[in-house]
Amino acid sequence: MTTTGDSTIPVLTIDGPSGSGKGTISRLVAERLGWHYLDSGALYRAVGVAAGWNDLDLDDAGALVRCAFDTEIRFREAADGELRVLVNGHDATDELRTETAGAAASAIAAIPEVRTALRDRQRAFRQPPGLVTDGRDMGTVIFPDAQFKVFLTASAEERAERRYKQLKEKGVSVTLAGLLREILARDARDANRAVAPLRPAEDAVRIDTTGQPIDAVVQQVLAVVRR
Ligand code: DC
Repeated sequence: MTTTGDSTIPVLTIDGPSGSGKGTISRLVAERLGWHYLDSGALYRAVGVAAGWNDLDLDDAGALVRCAFDTEIRFREAADGELRVLVNGHDATDELRTETAGAAASAIAAIPEVRTALRDRQRAFRQPPGLVTDGRDMGTVIFPDAQFKVFLTASAEERAERRYKQLKEKGVSVTLAGLLREILARDARDANRAVAPLRPAEDAVRIDTTGQPIDAVVQQVLAVVRR
């Protein structure tokens, strides 16, 4: 039997591909429930960024596994309510959001020992009164015994458009076609890797967010918990 922390503490897992709205929806749902929130992708991104700082080769699995064990990752809520991520004591929040960090995270996330190195850290977030966590394998591998599971999807075109708007607002110059290509490549890598591939847990409620306003999705997710 997998030990994933105190099983009396409720967990809501929200898995799905990048751009499905997981991050925004999970944060809002955690806020409404008054539960803790874990962005598991940030852990993979943090290891990717730390590997970059240390000039590690993305093909050197041994070095990346050591990096996953050694990197200190902390989350801190800033005065404006935004969640900041400290990697080895440095605020790396903005760097974590870059496409480079996402691509590095996706590559290192395919290494089984890296996933094992991060597993117990993720489970430690299961604290009262409850946890909302988003990622790829939250409902399948990290918290298979979660009381509530959701799998969010959206068309690749809409996900690329959402990302395009976000990056444009930040003044980053990208093309929609390029983003769509990257999203499809990342989906394929995350879904086809041998270990913990992106797939819905059998007992997850699937919600397609294409064309839906954020609050409508938040209500549907809250209904899963309140049901
Ligand atoms: O959710 P995100 O885009 O921040 O995740 C970045 C990468 O990390 C993603 O391409 C796959 C990987 N990841 C993972 O393998 N398992 C998770 N639970 C979360 C993220």
